[in-house]
Amino acid sequence: MPLELAIILPTLNERGNLGPLIQRIADVLRPVIGEDGWEILIVDDNSTDGTAEEGRNLARTDRRVRIIQRIGRRGLSSAAIEGFCATAAPFVAVMDADHQHDPALLPDMLSALKGDEADICVASRFAEGASTEDWAEPERQRLSGMANRAARLITGVKMSDPMSGYFMLRTSQALEMTPRLSGIGFKILFDLLATSATPLRVREFPLNFAARREGESKLDRAILFDFLAALYDKTLGHVIPTRFALFGTVGGLGVIVHYAVLGALFPGMTATFWKAHTLAVLIAMSFNFWLNNWLTYRDKRLKGFAALLRGWVGFCATCAVGGFANVAVATLLESQGVFWALAALAGILIGSVWNYALSSRFVWGR
Ligand code: GDD
Ligand code: MN
Repeated sequence: MPLELAIILPTLNERGNLGPLIQRIADVLRPVIGEDGWEILIVDDNSTDGTAEEGRNLARTDRRVRIIQRIGRRGLSSAAIEGFCATAAPFVAVMDADHQHDPALLPDMLSALKGDEADICVASRFAEGASTEDWAEPERQRLSGMANRAARLITGVKMSDPMSGYFMLRTSQALEMTPRLSGIGFKILFDLLATSATPLRVREFPLNFAARREGESKLDRAILFDFLAALYDKTLGHVIPTRFALFGTVGGLGVIVHYAVLGALFPGMTATFWKAHTLAVLIAMSFNFWLNNWLTYRDKRLKGFAALLRGWVGFCATCAVGGFANVAVATLLESQGVFWALAALAGILIGSVWNYALSSRFVWGR
């Protein structure tokens, strides 16, 4: 049987889930495309629990399983794209590796595509007949509903679950769009729908969204934000790159923090200008580190005390160069009689260019 279907499993700490899931997939596909009409592509982002090692173990005895281990990269969307590019199968599916997506839908999706009944088959958590076993937070369900409505407006495609992480399409179609996909975050399906030159014909399959088998979810509260970033990327992203725009926005908020500190200390003459300005730089810098880690680099977020501390120190260190130039320029201008607020602004502008260049490479570059 020639290779027909590739199933991409993006993984981040899913070691225990992999083996049983591949077994389930094999059982479902056997009657349809036999033992070798399909392959599994595990795209692992250097999990710390040994998922890649487990993937290699499975692949050693089962040639239908392949593993791509990515180092220094992160993200569900870009992992899916990696998979599109790595298979020779004419059809490709993406599904979660944690057993929340039922493999039983695969045969019907495949036959709908083969029969040219649709361009893309989507497993929907909100279609008629679907159910949800385990929604960690009702708040997330509400956000999900809002994001869905916005997505429907943008893509012009009527469907119940444009954020689904479980879908199947022709590999050639995915590849054709790949150069224009943003690949940020986890909204790969939305990305495909919004990128296609002609609206994709969608066919939905009601999904019983099961509870995760092992481990925990990697997607968090920044989920709605992630979606807004995707919207920006699809609209203005080609003018100013999304990451840079985010960094700039965070920087803008940092400026407000900066002025708040400066305004509180300097005009009242409770401190000399350079002291007040330096303190403002320090506070704004810490604030920017925190917010950039939370939003701008949410896909590469540093977590845990040690990583955060290292990141913060790294951020401060890379900013030190910029901070130094910032203080020097501002102090010089102020001493030349330039109004304090303007002097500060000039310092901040020069400093932030450095900060972006260095921190994108050394703090979140990995
Ligand atoms: N390679 C890689 N890189 N895989 C990742 C990453 C990453 O950065 N982040 C998550 N994954 C993998 C997980 O290991 C899992 O197999 C799958 O992607 C889904 O991640 P979960 O952490 O289980 O997501 P969820 O269950 O909270 O979110 C579900 O709902 C979203 C919409 O609200 C998923 O079905 C998503 O696909 C869906 O978009
Ligand atoms: Mn999950």
